[in-house]
Amino acid sequence: MASKVLTEQPVPAVPIQQDPDVLAAATRMAGEDLCSIADLSSAEVRATMKLGHDVKRNPRDYRHALDAKQMVLMFEKASLRTRLAFEAGINTMGGNAIFVDQTSSPLGERETIADVARNLERWVDVIVLRTYAHDTITEMAANSRVPVINALSDFEHPCQALADFMTIEEHFGTAKGLNFTYVGDGNNVCHSLMLTGAQLGTNVTVATPRSYSPDIEIVTKAREIAEANRCEIRLLQDPQAAVEGADAVYTDVCVSMGFEHELTKRQPIFRPFQVNEALMARASSRAVFMHCLPARRGEEVTDAVIDSLQSIVFDQAENRLHAQKALLLLLLGGLANVAAFSEQ
Ligand code: CP
Ligand code: NVA
Repeated sequence: MASKVLTEQPVPAVPIQQDPDVLAAATRMAGEDLCSIADLSSAEVRATMKLGHDVKRNPRDYRHALDAKQMVLMFEKASLRTRLAFEAGINTMGGNAIFVDQTSSPLGERETIADVARNLERWVDVIVLRTYAHDTITEMAANSRVPVINALSDFEHPCQALADFMTIEEHFGTAKGLNFTYVGDGNNVCHSLMLTGAQLGTNVTVATPRSYSPDIEIVTKAREIAEANRCEIRLLQDPQAAVEGADAVYTDVCVSMGFEHELTKRQPIFRPFQVNEALMARASSRAVFMHCLPARRGEEVTDAVIDSLQSIVFDQAENRLHAQKALLLLLLGGLANVAAFSEQ
């Protein structure tokens, strides 16, 4: 069953090219890396999503924004959404993508990561990495003069969180003040969602089995950000209590890539955390169901929920394209090539 049609984001009162948040973000972010979503300020996260909504509404305006820009994607893990959204995204803005499959030869094995960075920066304008170790991303960023983007590490998935909160904004008009609940493994996706929720003033509740709670460093950082934005980060072990009154219920697989060997150990631990119709019934009557995908149907979520009218999973997947285009525009200085912006 198709998910319901989203509420169109209202056309902003201030034209996007005059929006002070977007202009400030474009100036500060040009040439920078995105290793963690916390590399961006709250205002920059809002600006990136505002630009994402505009890119979605007016794709033709950005057709030549990244003319001739070269993007390399080096992926140690499989990908459908992230890879395709980046490739389609840069291609539709005049640039080009080069994909390097690192699944059978991890980065740093043939030569040092620093040496790879010092080569890549001579040829390409942006490096997009999907890795096992988060350190691989930060090390590449430390040694490269061109922006490095985290396309998923064992610690974070910032591009996912941008698209997810863009989808929430489309659906509810704003993410501020909403109650967002994540149920399942306190993993990379959970980490980036906690930080992004805090940056946008969303109350984030996370329910995990006791030994699978999110990383303490992320929790501390998310709580600091949340305090500044007057929202709350709660950690629970009871999925029923966690979804009570939630506006959005989100889950992810219990075995992320690299943890498949733990499946039989984890399955019984995560069974009570499955998002099924009984659990969704405890959420708000207007609640949406969210998942980064790929889903292990019948495990962390039932078909009845993921295929229901409450599910907005494919809207999230679509918004990977628009959010990642906005991110590329900001990190590569692309707005300078968009007529409406350069006339300012
Ligand atoms: N959600 C997500 O990142 O999907 P892929 O693993 O297919 O890129
Ligand atoms: N947590 C999952 C997300 C996949 C998009 C993983 O890391 O495999």
